[in-house]
Amino acid sequence: MASNTFSTTRAPNGSKHAASGREFPTRIALPLQARKPLQALLNACLADALDLYSQTKQAHWNVKGPNFYQLHLLFDELAERVEGHVDLFAERVRSLGGNALGTVRMAATGSSLPEFPGSLTTDLAFVEALAERYATYGAHLRAAIAESAGLEDQGTADIFTEASRAADRGLYFLEAHLQGRPLP
Ligand SMILES: [Fe+2]
Repeated sequence: MASNTFSTTRAPNGSKHAASGREFPTRIALPLQARKPLQALLNACLADALDLYSQTKQAHWNVKGPNFYQLHLLFDELAERVEGHVDLFAERVRSLGGNALGTVRMAATGSSLPEFPGSLTTDLAFVEALAERYATYGAHLRAAIAESAGLEDQGTADIFTEASRAADRGLYFLEAHLQGRPLP
């Protein structure tokens, strides 16, 4: 999905659950009409991040080939960084009076990332599959920064900005292994 099409109204896999859930009263100085789309944005990124975390671990466990060990370690480090942002997204939803939608099933329904391929045979194919997913995740975060800033919530925009920098760094580490290979 291109970054400019990412919005609070997107319905990954036909679901709109990111915008659902009970609203809790809060004294926070943000109007409800801004909090609702911010909650949806955060839950959408939460689903993507949980999915990306599990896909990165999937690569960590299953990668094989001459670069096995260093990729095994790199994928574990990348997964750990994504996992850190999962908690930030979920707790920010709660700060804004919404429900965090963070079970594995919720993430599977809400994620906009494609499933990790099951038929990869070379170490660089694992790197390539992850690079595509980190690029997509990074594009969604960039759009989320703009949308949350547009809703005048710099605190949420800051969380997306931090996650976006980490996604870009992850992509850099992955693409460094792919020098000389054509972009998809
Ligand atoms: Fe491990």
